[in-house]
Amino acid sequence: MEQELSQIKHEALTAIKAAENLTVLNEQRVKYLGKKGSLTAILRGMGKLAPEDRPRVGQLVNNVRIELESLLEERVKTLKKEEMVHRLANEKIDVTLPGRKQHLGHLHPLTLTLNKIKNIFKSMGYSIAEGPQIETDYFNFEALNLPKDHPARDMQDSFYITNDILMRTQTSPVQARTMQAHDPNSPIRIIAPGRVYRRDDYDATHSPMFTQVEGLCIDKNIRLSDLKGTLTSAMQQLFSDDLQLRFRPSFFPFTEPSAEVDMTCVMCHGKGCRVCKGTGWLEILGAGMVHPHVLQMSGYDPKKVSGFAFGMGVERIAMLSYGIEDLRLFFDNDLRFLKQF
Ligand code: DAH
Repeated sequence: MEQELSQIKHEALTAIKAAENLTVLNEQRVKYLGKKGSLTAILRGMGKLAPEDRPRVGQLVNNVRIELESLLEERVKTLKKEEMVHRLANEKIDVTLPGRKQHLGHLHPLTLTLNKIKNIFKSMGYSIAEGPQIETDYFNFEALNLPKDHPARDMQDSFYITNDILMRTQTSPVQARTMQAHDPNSPIRIIAPGRVYRRDDYDATHSPMFTQVEGLCIDKNIRLSDLKGTLTSAMQQLFSDDLQLRFRPSFFPFTEPSAEVDMTCVMCHGKGCRVCKGTGWLEILGAGMVHPHVLQMSGYDPKKVSGFAFGMGVERIAMLSYGIEDLRLFFDNDLRFLKQF
């Protein structure tokens, strides 16, 4: 047994010295000192010895164990140090390399345009109202004087969710929603920006989803001249001080009288050019005096108050402000386009 022990000791010491990394070293630890290791096996076999030999052999085994353990410990230290030196040499980082650039995003051209419009109206005492994009037939049409089967509904064919619920075709339902949530004895001045949906083509000038800003002003003695003054000031602030507006008689079910509003061309200032097709004018929004029936349906007394309303397309305004010729660019998310703003 003593001979066996010295052979194991010799073998183990050589193996431990030779282990070239921590994994191999650990394998050797298990091989000799582990539960099933050869030194442990000798301890287990001590029962076979004569009782008087046991303490002496036990002492010998123990000495070997202590010797192996201290060598192991020493090797672990050396190997760890070597590994560290190795890593330091290999994982050098060049702190003088330039850092990675963080790309800052910015607002979308439609948001920029919308913000300008909001600020202009806020400065005139308007507040911002919102309504749902999934709207009821009642608010989208009925409460705006567009009963079922009214022919004016055809122009706004839309995406229906049920017979009575649809993607709103206009921001005008926010007019009725605001009036109904409001005390009919106090005035209203709101604009309502938001997305609207219509069954439409997707080309340079059409999109089945686009953005509108609705406006509504109700008070005692509101007149057409107030509408004209408000819109002229707003459009002048948006485009240029010398801009003029022209009201052409038109039809909207919720206003009477109604007008299509044109502004002098932002490119040629009214002289006539390619953008305005030689006319000097650009159609920019719809507007009118709130129809008495619309006031009535939402609880207002047309004998006591009057109001005006308007609705404009934000894409069109953004296209004219920035000289963009294709509406699809707003929705394509092409960074080459978006980075220009
Ligand atoms: N809602 C109309 C549309 O989408 C635009 C409009 C016209 C809104 C006249 C108004 C208005 O408030 O008075 O075509």
